[in-house]
Amino acid sequence: MNFYDSDKMTDLLKPHGYQLDDNEDDADLIVLNTCHIREKAVEKTYSELGRIRDKINTRKANTGKKSIVAVAGCVAQAQGKEIMKRSPWVDIVVGPQSYQNLPELIAKVDPINKNKNISIDFPTIPKFDQLNATIEERGPSAFLTIQEGCDKFCTFCVVPYTRGAEYSRPLTSIIGEAKKLVDVGVKEITLLGQNVNAWSSKGLDNENWGLGKLIDELAKINELKFIRYTTSHPLDMDIELIKSHRDNKKLMPYLHLPVQSGADNVLKMMNRKHTSKQYLKIIEKVREYNPKIAISGDFIVGFPGETEKDHLSTLNLIKQVNYAQAYSFKYSKRPGTPGSVFLNHVNEDIKNSRLYEVQELLRSQQLSFNKKTINTTMKVLVLKKGKKKNQYIGRSPFNQSVYFSPYANNENLIGSFLDLNITEAFQNSLKGNIIPNF
Ligand code: 5AD
Ligand code: SF4
Repeated sequence: MNFYDSDKMTDLLKPHGYQLDDNEDDADLIVLNTCHIREKAVEKTYSELGRIRDKINTRKANTGKKSIVAVAGCVAQAQGKEIMKRSPWVDIVVGPQSYQNLPELIAKVDPINKNKNISIDFPTIPKFDQLNATIEERGPSAFLTIQEGCDKFCTFCVVPYTRGAEYSRPLTSIIGEAKKLVDVGVKEITLLGQNVNAWSSKGLDNENWGLGKLIDELAKINELKFIRYTTSHPLDMDIELIKSHRDNKKLMPYLHLPVQSGADNVLKMMNRKHTSKQYLKIIEKVREYNPKIAISGDFIVGFPGETEKDHLSTLNLIKQVNYAQAYSFKYSKRPGTPGSVFLNHVNEDIKNSRLYEVQELLRSQQLSFNKKTINTTMKVLVLKKGKKKNQYIGRSPFNQSVYFSPYANNENLIGSFLDLNITEAFQNSLKGNIIPNF
């Protein structure tokens, strides 16, 4: 979501004379967009700000020009004024729900009077209504935020406090943005939300629509070929959405469905509101409708009170699901969340060894999922050039990176769909050959 927000900020600032630069050394404006989801986010922000201070001081000394520094994102939201106190060279602090005000905040910065601007409110007019900027070039694949915030309040998670309450963007606003993205050459859209499958809004027929119906509506946009969504909560996985995975050919066969733990007592302490059995049932249902679907997930090891037996339950659940890919993390205390004041925190060495075991198992599952694709044919969207000469990287329907080298070296393939025959599989990628179109 931060990538999406950064793109939006870029679009927003373009009419004000700014353009994206990959070099901070001579930038008039530096925006540090931050994430607060796991540990060390705050420390990382301050150390990054220290580095930025050196850059802007050098620029000032060499050219006499003062750069404007803005901190955006969830660390900005959580830290507020503290950032200005600890890093007085910062001019603007702007939260994830108010960055639509960035041009105005920049205009108000006064380098002589050291006028500072903080905007971390949760405004009553949702930011999307004010973000009607022209969309700039995005490449063949783009994100589109359809839902923000969360009302689930898992006890480890900071999202409900930094991104606020659950909000579903209206249907017409989403369709409008999807069409704009397609107009600038986008072929694949990933719908985003902290709880994306909780999206609901009034549909074109005035009935209440869920994510499945939204995806079906978006699939009517001709030039849009691949649709994805992330991240979902098990309890919001309704039958309509599950059916879309069978019936909607533009919806990719990939589902990221975090479970966090395989132990019911831990799930309860996490306030996940589902059991491991319920989760497994949902996976079973999804596979019934689309047997080939790649399942992904998130895991937290070492949540307060997690015992060895609980850890074994997690390993057991992983074995039952057999993931194509997954993310796993050591539990980290997030300030202000209920989990941070739980008493029985797990020792760091135990967390490390549990994480290792979870990751080893997930790694082996991912490799065998990848290996199973050898000798199959996949339609791959070409995303960019690879590091090697005459090499491209694309994405498979199952969300795998696929490397290939075209036979002829003279055409730009970025943005095209190619049928690739998979010849090799690695831990995090595949290698393929183009199947010639006779
Ligand atoms: N500690 C560790 N992992 C966390 N996540 C969220 N909060 C924490 C935390 N306090 C993980 C969850 C979530 C993913 C985005 O980040 O697994 O699904
Ligand atoms: Fe955080 Fe996801 Fe739980 Fe919401 S559902 S509180 S975003 S982990």
